[in-house]
Amino acid sequence: MNSRTVQIDTACKGSKYEILIANGILNNAGNWSRDILGSGTRRILLVSDRKVYGLYGEKVLGSLERAGFKVGKAIIAEGERSKSWDTASYILSSLSEFGITRSDGIVALGGGVVGDLAGFAAAVHLRGVPFLQIPTTLLAMIDSSVGGKTGVNSVKGKNMIGAFHQPHGVLIDIHVLTTLETRELTSGLCEAVKHGAIAGRHILDPIADLVRDHPVIKLKQELANSDTFRSRLTSIIEMQVAFKAKVVAGDDREALDRHDQSSRKILNFGHTLAHALESVTDYQRFKHGEAVGYGILFAAELSNNLAFCDKKDVELLNDVVQSVGVFPSLAGIRPSEVSQAFGLDKKNIRGSLQWVLLRGIGKPAIISEENIPPSIMATVLAGFLSRFA
Ligand SMILES: NC(=O)c1ccc[n+]([C@@H]2O[C@H](COP(=O)([O-])OP(=O)(O)OC[C@H]3O[C@@H](n4cnc5c(N)ncnc54)[C@H](O)[C@@H]3O)[C@@H](O)[C@H]2O)c1
Ligand SMILES: [Zn+2]
Repeated sequence: MNSRTVQIDTACKGSKYEILIANGILNNAGNWSRDILGSGTRRILLVSDRKVYGLYGEKVLGSLERAGFKVGKAIIAEGERSKSWDTASYILSSLSEFGITRSDGIVALGGGVVGDLAGFAAAVHLRGVPFLQIPTTLLAMIDSSVGGKTGVNSVKGKNMIGAFHQPHGVLIDIHVLTTLETRELTSGLCEAVKHGAIAGRHILDPIADLVRDHPVIKLKQELANSDTFRSRLTSIIEMQVAFKAKVVAGDDREALDRHDQSSRKILNFGHTLAHALESVTDYQRFKHGEAVGYGILFAAELSNNLAFCDKKDVELLNDVVQSVGVFPSLAGIRPSEVSQAFGLDKKNIRGSLQWVLLRGIGKPAIISEENIPPSIMATVLAGFLSRFA
């Protein structure tokens, strides 16, 4: 099967990079890193979590060493609770102790948690060192590894501390998805549906068709055994990444004053409820993408109640989201705590929460909360929470 590449342009001069997608290319991580970083780079700090390092760490480390790098490691505990200031501080200490200079580099091997943390450390260590992403979850492949948003959570909420720092390159080996838990695949598929909802049917339909043809519990089997399936998944990842890259290229710092339908803010579709659900359950109940799955349905329903979008669009999104997997229930989550968590969301700019809603599939709209009658919000939220309890 052939590899695919997607070129990423950023507004920042000189920070173009490439995303390489193929099957079974982890062994080549060293040469790939060398091509990007050049012959002057001596040291690399490999950042990973315990689980991913246990599965793929030795392979990547060996490949980096064969390409002539001196490699240090910073291995963190897996899971969202690691996306903290303390873990970032541990990685920053490891960078200093290992003597990483501005002519060295960082390789992030893992899901979105590892990528966001390693990217943040890369942004602030010596005011910025090169970093490369090797995403190992579907979510990280199609979403978090692209676009340069890095950061950690604080006690006040998700991603409250962070920086924009573009990677120098992204290497996607789809074979690693064969070891991913089914819930994590569902989580990644939800972010893919999010892209489809805001991009249009040309991005949404391939995902809907994929999960219609192959139930999510069979995906890993298909991936291990079928060339046709691997090609299909590769082109879906390529389309997804290209869509995100296009949005990011047009607004790479998520400009505060932009509210048009090409603004980077549209990528937050489904995320206002998602962040609130994650926060009120202390990041324990939902995978990030599962919370986004609920967020997509809620935003679509709210859009319909405000007469922005048709019932048939809400039904289509419901069908697709329900077919990407089974979600933990919303039992015990009260409307009042969710409303309170909305207020903490970082998109709460100048005291006003910006909702990303839909005027139809592929037609996102950024709507300020003052333009949403509180009674409609309260009714939709209460109905939604009780329906999925
Ligand atoms: N920076 C961005 O633009 C952006 C975009 C979307 C999401 N995010 C962030 O990404 C994070 C979620 O990322 P995630 O869903 O990848 O979660 P994650 O990094 O926690 O990974 C999920 C789990 O899968 C395991 N895992 C990873 N790869 C594996 C593999 N190949 N085989 C077996 N197990 C594997 C990990 O150890 C972990 O337990 C959130 O913090 C979210 O805020 C960031
Ligand atoms: Zn997300």
